[in-house]
Amino acid sequence: MALPRSDYLSNVWKDGIFDNKVVFCTGGGGTICSAQVRALVHLGANACIVGRNVEKTEAMARSIATARKGARRKPWSEHAGAAGNFLSPISNLSPNAFKTVIDIDTIGSYNTLKATIPHLVASAKKHPNAATNPDTGGRIIFISASFHFTGMPFQTHAAVAKAGVDALSASVALEYGPRGVTSNILTPGPIAGTEGMERLGNKEAEASGAAMRKNPLQRYGSVKEIADGTVYLFSDAGNYVNGEVLVIDGGGWRSPGSF
Ligand code: HXC
Repeated sequence: MALPRSDYLSNVWKDGIFDNKVVFCTGGGGTICSAQVRALVHLGANACIVGRNVEKTEAMARSIATARKGARRKPWSEHAGAAGNFLSPISNLSPNAFKTVIDIDTIGSYNTLKATIPHLVASAKKHPNAATNPDTGGRIIFISASFHFTGMPFQTHAAVAKAGVDALSASVALEYGPRGVTSNILTPGPIAGTEGMERLGNKEAEASGAAMRKNPLQRYGSVKEIADGTVYLFSDAGNYVNGEVLVIDGGGWRSPGSF
């Protein structure tokens, strides 16, 4: 059954703004990435999602296809990953555990970039407005985190990995901007109902409500709020945004202990 639009997208966006656009998303079977893709598809985009878990990714592709009339699902799976994380003190973190997270987050982002950037450059060149508006070309959004802004105990591996992703995006923004491709980071905070919260949240602080109260907005975010930020960055409203980090966390990273 199709999810109601209000579950994954605000009503401020116009239908059809992504007609003839194609989105390629790694980790597309996950809670956050699937909401992002569902929103883009609802607004007209065609999508290809990949993920490490084939069954989960195919089920999500079927579900996302209901976001738009006439959309079809073609099975396609590939080895790819968007995020990997767990809580571990450094004393218990083996070199392989550290490397595994760098491989998924940083190297995975790099591999995805390498595979897709020629297509983004080509589509920027072919765009009908390319001569007058070079900002209408390819768009990259990497999903990152905020814990490396300050450092994070028990998530050293992920903090290092995401710092690398931020540096990757900033460098791509400078190198590919002249070729019509922008690169930005979207950083979700504590988003309700996600695997990240399940794995990393402080269960005691969550149960007592203390975790929520530490966030300036006194609540967790929703996947819809991440999808809305994604639509903004991909839409013409985001044409001049390049090399930026859009943090959607209610101001939480400024408030220690909110996640
Ligand atoms: C210590 C651990 C560990 C743990 C695994 N390892 N879990 N070490 N504590 N809890 C070690 C293993 O012992 C092994 O090292 C190495 O890590 C690789 O483990 P594998 O299980 O073989 O790896 P793999 O199957 O590739 O799984 C990757 C994973 C797993 C990252 C370990 O957790 C995973 O698949 N996660 C994907 C989903 C996920 O994490 N989603 C949440 C993202 S949340 P040795 O030395 O024994 O070989 C997120 C949050 C954003 O990104 C935050 C927003 C605020």
